[in-house]
Amino acid sequence: MNVFIIGSAGKVGSRLVPLLAEAGHTPLAFHRKPEQAEALRAAGAVPLEGDITRISREALAELMAGADAVVFTAGAGGAGIALTNAIDGEGLVKAVEAAQLAGVARFVLVSAFPEAGRNAAPQEGFENYMAVKKRTDAYLAQSALDWVILRPGTLRDAPGTGRVSLGLALPYGSVPRDDVAQALLGLLERPQLSRIILELTEGETPLGQALDAMG
Ligand SMILES: NC(=O)c1ccc[n+]([C@@H]2O[C@H](COP(=O)([O-])OP(=O)(O)OC[C@H]3O[C@@H](n4cnc5c(N)ncnc54)[C@H](OP(=O)(O)O)[C@@H]3O)[C@@H](O)[C@H]2O)c1
Repeated sequence: MNVFIIGSAGKVGSRLVPLLAEAGHTPLAFHRKPEQAEALRAAGAVPLEGDITRISREALAELMAGADAVVFTAGAGGAGIALTNAIDGEGLVKAVEAAQLAGVARFVLVSAFPEAGRNAAPQEGFENYMAVKKRTDAYLAQSALDWVILRPGTLRDAPGTGRVSLGLALPYGSVPRDDVAQALLGLLERPQLSRIILELTEGETPLGQALDAMG
């Protein structure tokens, strides 16, 4: 499978790239900095340079041509409201439109857990981030694409355990990025999981079993 990853050099994306390559897939790694290309190539990807805020929908579609699936795991990472709107918001819309133009039906979005941050004082940037994530979920869910929206809890860099809670609605929790990347691989390899929103936190169930149970 050729998998076009937007955000491929990020903390989740850079974990997903080698998993895909090791499983025999071809990661098409959309990244924005020239210096990221070498590490992506070394991890088994085809690096494709571009900035989601600057590239045209048509040019992005050209890069996506021949892909079997798109994974969107880009984000502004708390860099402010304008960038969040441009990357997590307008960037996702552009990616969906480009996938439609390119004829790539399968689209997996890394979104956010709706209950994240509820125990902290509201902050404008975070409130905007959560609102953008919900709007983009709604936009993708209303498209004709073969989409999956994955809503992980707060992401941690601790090593993955391979054990998760995965479901349509879960109590809030956190989850290692390693396990998010494994879940993305598992979703890509399970085409029967389609047009579904799944929440993910650390848990007790082996990931493969949890994914199979959703199918
Ligand atoms: N942090 C959390 O607890 C949490 C929880 C749930 C969901 N999420 C979501 O999970 C996703 C992945 O998180 P992460 O930890 O992997 O984030 P990350 O490390 O910040 O990765 C985000 C990626 O997006 C890329 N990007 C940013 N602006 C771009 C642009 N204009 N054009 C192209 N690429 C651009 C970044 O590129 P560079 O490498 O060049 O910076 C980076 O590779 C994000 O969408 C995030 O919102 C996060």
